[in-house]
Amino acid sequence: MIELAPSILSADFAHLGDQVRLAAEGGATVVHVDIMDGHFVPNLTIGPPVVKSLRKATELPLDCHLMIENPDQFIPDFVEAGADWISVHQEACRHLNRTLHLIRSHGALAGVVINPATPADTLSEVLDIVDYVLVMSVNPGFGAQKFIPGTLHKMKQLASLRQERGYNYRIEVDGGVALDTIGDVVRAGAEILVAGNAVFGSGDPKNNAQKLLKAAAEATLLKV
Ligand code: DX5
Ligand code: ZN
Repeated sequence: MIELAPSILSADFAHLGDQVRLAAEGGATVVHVDIMDGHFVPNLTIGPPVVKSLRKATELPLDCHLMIENPDQFIPDFVEAGADWISVHQEACRHLNRTLHLIRSHGALAGVVINPATPADTLSEVLDIVDYVLVMSVNPGFGAQKFIPGTLHKMKQLASLRQERGYNYRIEVDGGVALDTIGDVVRAGAEILVAGNAVFGSGDPKNNAQKLLKAAAEATLLKV
């Protein structure tokens, strides 16, 4: 099942509740929340208090993408604030297995993320304990960057590995997903499609979400 996960990074933070509601009216079913610490990535965003406010503004699952050092320290706070899904970067975790179990032990879905320069093979020992794998299709830190086509093969690789080994994780993509790239990511096997600029950058989030989902559905029909 294809799902659209608008990233609030490109939304108007003074009207977050309304922006998320509009995207949901357009068919979005997950809210992607980018957490940055100014260390792991060269940008700063939000923390648990904003997640707590969002929790009251929507019933959609909150997908918290942690682009932070030492995520273990903050995982309980994000779950407490209302995060339903939590993903951590392979590159930021010294004890990835422990961190993924920590997320699960708090009752959230656990995801692992790889940067464009990180091979999917580095995840081979954790694929049986994750609920989703997030393939970054830009270098994390900023919205509205250009999609990196060289990341598509990792979505394909993860889809075939899942079939070969009988795993259940879902495949998420994040970065540069827009009308001109959404077909490629869906055909490569991505199922949870994060889009920030393409939903909130300009125009009406509802209309933007509808168009993206329509393009994704058309690509599913063409998938061989
Ligand atoms: C980048 C973030 C993304 C970002 C995507 O570090 O993880 O979620 O918001 O934005 P777009 O869709 O504009 O590339
Ligand atoms: Zn993200």
